[in-house]
Amino acid sequence: MIMKKAILSLGFIFLSFIMFSQQKSLDQKVDSVMNLMTLEEKIGQMNQYNDDWTATGPATVDNDKATQIRNGQVGSLLNCMGTERTRSWQKIALESRMKIPLIFGQDVIHGYKTTFPIPLAESCSWDLDAMELSARIAATEASASGIQWTFAPMVDIARDPRWGRVMEGAGEDPYLGSLIAAARVRGFQGNKPEDINSVIACAKHYAAYGAAIGGRDYNSVDMSDRLLWEVYLPPFKAAADAGVATFMTSFNDLNGVPATENKYLLSDILKGKWGFKGFVVSDWGAIGELINHGTAKNSYEAAESAIKAGCDMDMESRCYKNNLAQLVKDKKVSIALIDDAVKRILRVKFELGLFDDPYRYCNQIRENQELNNPEHPKAARQIAEKSIVLLKNENHLLPLSKNIKTIAFIGPLVKSLKQNKGFWDVEVPGVDSSFIVSQWQGLKKKVGSGTTLLYARGCNIEGDNKEGFPEAIDIAKQADVVILSIGESRDMTGEARSRSNINIPGVQEDLLKALLATGKPVVVLINAGRPLVFNYTADHATAILYTWWLGSEAGDAIADVLFGDYNPSAKLTITFPGSVGQIPIYYSHFNTGRPATSDTNRYYKSAYTDLSIYPKYEFGYGLSYTNFNYSDLKLSKKEMKGNDQIEASVTITNTGEYDGDEIVQLYLRDRFGSICRPVEELKDFKKIQLKKGESKTIKFIINKEKLSFYNQKLQWAAEPGEFDLMIGASSKDIRLKDSFELIN
Ligand code: NOJ
Repeated sequence: MIMKKAILSLGFIFLSFIMFSQQKSLDQKVDSVMNLMTLEEKIGQMNQYNDDWTATGPATVDNDKATQIRNGQVGSLLNCMGTERTRSWQKIALESRMKIPLIFGQDVIHGYKTTFPIPLAESCSWDLDAMELSARIAATEASASGIQWTFAPMVDIARDPRWGRVMEGAGEDPYLGSLIAAARVRGFQGNKPEDINSVIACAKHYAAYGAAIGGRDYNSVDMSDRLLWEVYLPPFKAAADAGVATFMTSFNDLNGVPATENKYLLSDILKGKWGFKGFVVSDWGAIGELINHGTAKNSYEAAESAIKAGCDMDMESRCYKNNLAQLVKDKKVSIALIDDAVKRILRVKFELGLFDDPYRYCNQIRENQELNNPEHPKAARQIAEKSIVLLKNENHLLPLSKNIKTIAFIGPLVKSLKQNKGFWDVEVPGVDSSFIVSQWQGLKKKVGSGTTLLYARGCNIEGDNKEGFPEAIDIAKQADVVILSIGESRDMTGEARSRSNINIPGVQEDLLKALLATGKPVVVLINAGRPLVFNYTADHATAILYTWWLGSEAGDAIADVLFGDYNPSAKLTITFPGSVGQIPIYYSHFNTGRPATSDTNRYYKSAYTDLSIYPKYEFGYGLSYTNFNYSDLKLSKKEMKGNDQIEASVTITNTGEYDGDEIVQLYLRDRFGSICRPVEELKDFKKIQLKKGESKTIKFIINKEKLSFYNQKLQWAAEPGEFDLMIGASSKDIRLKDSFELIN
């Protein structure tokens, strides 16, 4: 035994030594390059330029980009894709005196060529492994196509569906959002950066971008420290803990201090308290925008402020390029600050193996293989199925029988290809849209020769033209069931796509009304990037599938769900309001001093006199073709002391007619605290598979961590007292309840 221990500790010392010397040699490598660099070359590493292709903001057009790269004035390019193009820029970088390779960054948000569901949709799967896999596949394709760095995951908590960027995140909840942030980082980065199938990830937008006032993109954020720490920072912390290599600053100001020059966020919290060793890139042009924010008079002041706050790389604004050398000369910025930023950037380039072989991501054969890897669409189809939320299913209309005689498939989105990809699809060079499976193709492949499929467009997504209604009504009359595919176009939700009216656009709901008047059952597919308001559809359609933007395999995935080859299991990760007037609306609110408990008793209560207090669909909601019964909630004890744990077990039984997956959710409520606590908070969940008739007992562990929160002094602590424990199928559909007490 003693011998075994001795061997183990020797092994440990040896391992630590190796790790230490590897670390040391990486630092030494970085230093050896740094020692040879001029100030101008160091500053060059801190600039990221756009490759004149796509732009998500005002772009600087340089006629002499190649010369600047050759002069060592650029450290990174974004929006440059494909082995051929990245190779040609890399070649120019290697003609510079120091021969430091470029790092190529790209918004690989929900897939590269193979497109996965938009991140908000994917989050509704609550399937961390699936999300990790989709990030992994995106990384494999992107890295094979010359890219080493994705500007993802977007980990902003978002509670306002008017904000177009809700589509990019994981919804409203910090607990779930943190788990998803870590899963996506693991997926993109793999085990180590030098793994050829990995790209480095970027946690963005740091911080609190999702709380833009009024849901208006780029707007200010005004929030308490408590809310920042408790709700908006946790997913960033989780990404940092998962080893994310980079962070991106957000466009907004936070309580009057723009995030890009926010020392509290960048230096005190991220690089200080959290010990983040990677580098921070600004968002597009955000350093230059400090002038618009009114906190810098000119680009000289903007550069000074951003570098001093801890922003290491300037995306597109040229403020660093044009001012840092002068700032050093004027003794406004120390060389130590520049060195720190450059070391962080070079370390990542070394870790990626770019110094060993700058062309290692430029292998055309590998590019061709990975962009056509047959496993990728299969995985995309599976995660797409898992992201579809069944909102309504009157009279068990779904799943449809494969022997239906006639189906009328109607709507402006039925035959589209690119629409299925969602906002952040990547225009991969040389790849057209023909590989995308349209909803029409998906259905056509699914039904047998005995089924007749009829099609009419009916109307456009926007506008008030109803000329297509008669044709649609005509085919509906001939059919046994109508499937209507409506919603937003893919570019209505995304960056700079804030909307004050989030109804289903145009005359699409009028079309539904006309189709329902035929007396035929109507299944509505809602395609969207955000929660929409669709009360008419919700109240009158026979069945509703919220299909979001599902990516390149959308058509097959939708057909799988419609016909029961996949039993829907997704649950909403963001609250769906019944009216824009209710926004912001989220499940984990405080009770207030005058809580409203019903829509009939609203006077002198925290309610609207003209609106329900309830959302249309709550956080955690989603139906299945089968039913699940919850029983036998047992707590291992009713008191928790010190570092004790309580085990909560519950039995779930599939009592319906189909095999299915259930996402069992555990919520806690701290009854009385030194500050207000939410009426419920998600603290755990389990996604389980149950065959028809099968039962499973699942266990949750409650520890002090799960009871802790940031108190008035911003200390993370649990307070003694009584806690409610709720287990349910959604935040509202609580099936079982108990309580316990934390002593001391
Ligand atoms: C601006 C967006 O806010 C950010 O998310 C993105 O990564 C950059 N543009 C680069 O495209």
